Amino acid sequence: MKNIAVIGSGTMGNGIAHTFAQFGFQVNLIDINAEALERAITTISKNLDRQVTKGTITEADKSATLNNILSFTDLQTGVANVDLVVEAATENLDLKLKIFKELDAFAKPNAILASNTSSISITKIASVTGRGDKVIGMHFMNPVPVMKLVEVIRGYATSNETTEIVMELSKKLGKAPVEVNDYPGFVANRILIPMINEAIYTLYENVAGVEEIDTVMKLGMAHPMGPLQLADFIGLDVCLAILRVLQDGFGNPKYAPCPLLVNMVTAGNKGVKSGEGFYNYANGVKEATVAAKFS
Ligand SMILES: NC(=O)c1ccc[n+]([C@@H]2O[C@H](COP(=O)([O-])OP(=O)(O)OC[C@H]3O[C@@H](n4cnc5c(N)ncnc54)[C@H](O)[C@@H]3O)[C@@H](O)[C@H]2O)c1
Repeated sequence: MKNIAVIGSGTMGNGIAHTFAQFGFQVNLIDINAEALERAITTISKNLDRQVTKGTITEADKSATLNNILSFTDLQTGVANVDLVVEAATENLDLKLKIFKELDAFAKPNAILASNTSSISITKIASVTGRGDKVIGMHFMNPVPVMKLVEVIRGYATSNETTEIVMELSKKLGKAPVEVNDYPGFVANRILIPMINEAIYTLYENVAGVEEIDTVMKLGMAHPMGPLQLADFIGLDVCLAILRVLQDGFGNPKYAPCPLLVNMVTAGNKGVKSGEGFYNYANGVKEATVAAKFS
């Protein structure tokens, strides 16, 4: 396997393209938005500069990595000659189903179709293709070039062969793949997101303030980042969407999102990407913010 395509050049897509290209794969990076593609190449270049400064790669490695990436705005052209597609487009069920129908039509019949979805059912995505055995979840973590884990998600119809290929491929990228089955939230988000929701409830019920909750989890549990700050990094809208998937998927009220989280997302406070969540990120300073006032 040498040629791969990455669909979506946002936060995850650029990291996935960077990682494959760094390990010698030819990457076709595809996005409907030409500006997003330009931004992705700039981001990859800056991230490679950081690796050069740290001494983990050379200038020559940087050039080789960038030379391994081609940009496309047309999906059909971009996937024509690849053996693997990793889809990392916006987290939206209808969009993913549309993309996978197109991939099934335009990618080579034996190509593996992987999704980096955080929460959408791989079995559901596979159901719109005629190759369910070759559809799989390849859930990278952010930032992709740094984080070791790949959660490899087997849909109901995913074959052993596809799973083995993707597990081996992940190892070739210097990652540690873990095989899991396709149930809501898989493993990572089924455990992480309810913990974040519980942290938000703890704030909402005024058990403690933003900084205090994060400090307990950092210093008491050795988490590198408190759950409220982590929620800001993930995006509060994304946390809310994943809770809805857990709530719908299991029909269990324990996954009901905290009303404070719902209020914050409705008000447009989505965390780092909107400049404000549980902390305010204006002027590069991180300060516990208005969320505390809701409690
Ligand atoms: N951000 C994270 O921390 C994270 C972690 C793990 C998994 N994920 C998953 O990765 C996927 C991408 O998330 P992201 O944070 O990179 O999103 P993002 O919003 O940063 O990027 C999404 C990109 O997809 C592009 N896109 C939308 N429709 C498209 C189409 N039809 N064809 C091609 N490109 C299209 C958009 O233009 C955008 O550039 C989602 O499924 C998300 O759940 C995200």
